[in-house]
Amino acid sequence: MIRPQKLLRLGVNIDHVATLRNARGGLHPDPVDAARLAIEAGADGITAHLREDRRHINDDDMMRLQALCLELSKPLNFEMAVADDIVKVALATKPHAVCLVPEKREERTTEGGLDAAGLHNQITPIVRTLSDNGSRVSLFIEAVPHQITASKSCGAQVVEFHTGAYAHALDAGDTGKARELLTAMQVGAKQADALGLEVHFGHGLTFANVTAIAKIPEVQELNIGHFIIGEAITMGLKPAIIEMRHLMNVARGVSL
Ligand code: PXP
Repeated sequence: MIRPQKLLRLGVNIDHVATLRNARGGLHPDPVDAARLAIEAGADGITAHLREDRRHINDDDMMRLQALCLELSKPLNFEMAVADDIVKVALATKPHAVCLVPEKREERTTEGGLDAAGLHNQITPIVRTLSDNGSRVSLFIEAVPHQITASKSCGAQVVEFHTGAYAHALDAGDTGKARELLTAMQVGAKQADALGLEVHFGHGLTFANVTAIAKIPEVQELNIGHFIIGEAITMGLKPAIIEMRHLMNVARGVSL
């Protein structure tokens, strides 16, 4: 079992700064500038997803984000599909962490978790290669028992539970479904922790839904992107990160 951490880490996902930049095809806004501001505002690390279609973050962004994270001594969490060409970029980038996610070209965002059980033989050597290269590997999965045990047997050190369905159920006013999903994540976090897996959560987290997730005792890190970058347009990037950190700290009973 991993000793519960009171203070949660916040990884800020800056993909959608690149989405905005790419809408005009130029250089502005730069996700690396946003990452620097995010760290100044209290982010504990930076998360970015190099998609196979390069729709937001590109290979050069990843290299520059890694340089920034090394300069500021903060971890870069490199999200990626189980795909050989992206593995090569991750090996060259040497990020602190890699999170393997499922990826479909036609999806708007990462839908559902990785099938660690079904893809066990494909994932295991990639986890080993990335780990041998110095990255800590997490698998982005649904909080279901067989995916958690499969993640452990693939050699992952971390599991990140997909909170998208929970966020969606709350948005739709389906409190019964939300309660059921929250219970599954609470039980899954205990199972993962008992297996020696570090527990992270992410996807669709907002000021309104973060508290119940942050209260799960085994969780050590939350990765949040779209909502924070959206709030950057109205309240500003730094205030949005400060408020998210505040809510996470209150949920953990931490006063700073
Ligand atoms: N964690 C993982 C593994 C993801 O794929 C994403 C989306 O790229 C996030 C967290 C962040 O999700 P959101 O942008 O909805 O906050």
